[in-house]
Amino acid sequence: MSEQHRFFSHATLERNVGWLIIVTILAVAVAGLVQIVPLFFQHSTTEPSPGVKPYSALRLAGRDIFQREGCLGCHSQQIRTLRSEVERYGPYSLAGESVFDHPFLWGSKRTGPDLARVGGRYSDDWHRIHLRNPRNVVPESNMPSYPYLQGSAAAADTIQSHMGALRRLGVPYSDDEIANASKELEGKTEEDALIAYLQGLGINRRFNVVEAVVVEQVSK
Ligand code: HEC
Repeated sequence: MSEQHRFFSHATLERNVGWLIIVTILAVAVAGLVQIVPLFFQHSTTEPSPGVKPYSALRLAGRDIFQREGCLGCHSQQIRTLRSEVERYGPYSLAGESVFDHPFLWGSKRTGPDLARVGGRYSDDWHRIHLRNPRNVVPESNMPSYPYLQGSAAAADTIQSHMGALRRLGVPYSDDEIANASKELEGKTEEDALIAYLQGLGINRRFNVVEAVVVEQVSK
């Protein structure tokens, strides 16, 4: 039998766009499933990394403001394994650090620096000045100012239903935590909430493993 007459020769596929599309979709679907399905069952992607806890009510309210204000459009929250990133931002991000994030805020655009480990890098006061007008601390900054956050109260009325919804998605909030959530936001501004959120980012894993061993030995 010559090449041309074989039913599924490569030549048949290349000359028949319908078959090419169908077989491409099949190949991508199978390859995708082989990569994606195991992730649903691996502990490293489904269980929290050491030290990672669900967001407190205040931090959760701050996370909502982060989303509302579009901070994600300029700031990613995922440190890649590249040496340049690890040296600049700290240990690379692990899947287990995002298990309580619904939705994920990994982002892909870095007009500003990655924020995955910004927690504790600056004082709360630095953040206040920076959020009200970034030019007051970084003269060349093109980040927008968010002065109105200091004047609006954190959303205490919706926080409990928000936490309830997250609990249905598997975040282990206790009844007490949900019951006390509105109280935790009393007297707090949106600026307070956003700063609390920023100050908690990535603090579960500040050092590279080698640095952590050195710190451990020095402190012994
Ligand atoms: C138009 C792009 C843009 C948007 C939107 C934006 N930023 Fe920025 N951000 C930057 C740039 C550029 C820098 C670096 C200069 C500076 O520090 O101001 C920065 C720096 C920062 C830093 C300091 C990071 C570090 O490691 O030094 C924080 C924290 C920050 N932004 C938080 C936020 C938050 C919170 C929001 C949303 C309320 C936000 N940014 C929105 C561009 C942006």
